[in-house]
Amino acid sequence: SPRLTVVPSAGDVADQVARRIAAAITSNPKLVLGLATGSSPVATYQRLIQLHRDEALDFSQLTTFNLDEYIGLASDHPQSFRHFMQQQLFDHVNIDLANTHVPDGQCLDIEKHVAEYESAIATAGGIAIQLLGIGSNGHIAFNEPGSAADSRTRQVSLTGQTIRANSRFFDSVDDVPRTAITMGIGTIMEADQIILIATGDVKADAIGDAMLGPVSPDCPASLLRMHNDVTFFVDESASPKR
Ligand code: GLP
Repeated sequence: SPRLTVVPSAGDVADQVARRIAAAITSNPKLVLGLATGSSPVATYQRLIQLHRDEALDFSQLTTFNLDEYIGLASDHPQSFRHFMQQQLFDHVNIDLANTHVPDGQCLDIEKHVAEYESAIATAGGIAIQLLGIGSNGHIAFNEPGSAADSRTRQVSLTGQTIRANSRFFDSVDDVPRTAITMGIGTIMEADQIILIATGDVKADAIGDAMLGPVSPDCPASLLRMHNDVTFFVDESASPKR
């Protein structure tokens, strides 16, 4: 069953999650880490960069797998999740880019690519810690409501709500890709440990539904309650209000 850790501020969430990840890297430098994009993990990445600079936290043997990527965006497109990871984390630590994996939004054969992504995770030995954000409709990665508990890495269509929410990063809503590649819920659930980060009152309802509502694909994050090592790390304003 899930643990809910409520701390006063978004900064406290970042501190605690970064400390936990750093401890895991220190005890196993070859850790396989699942990473997320969006605004939620940014402060955590900043803490990890600090720990690299101040305490020589070593990323050199780490392997990472990101959750998702927009279809159609080149890896150097400013809004691609590959570009986001470079800017927010990879360019600032001593990670070997060859060991960083983000789905390729420009792959020519999506079926083949998603199968290869799944086998790369398996070959790496599986994901030890998976970081997650949560969408305001309860989506995790790009698994929108209705996604099956046993879904795998695949192509998905984004909901209008997600397209509108993510349009803040684009010039206009028309520029937001309509499809994406995402790890499935079944893929995510195979991580040994899952850490979901949510901050701000816009996430309180989603956290309430995920933690206290029915376990149902209607709220993809609620399916995480079937995992035996999941922690919801939230600040006061994102804590469930019911
Ligand atoms: C996006 C991502 C999710 C992320 C969610 C919330 O759609 N695919 O992985 O968790 O939005 O984003 P944010 O953290 O910016 O609120």
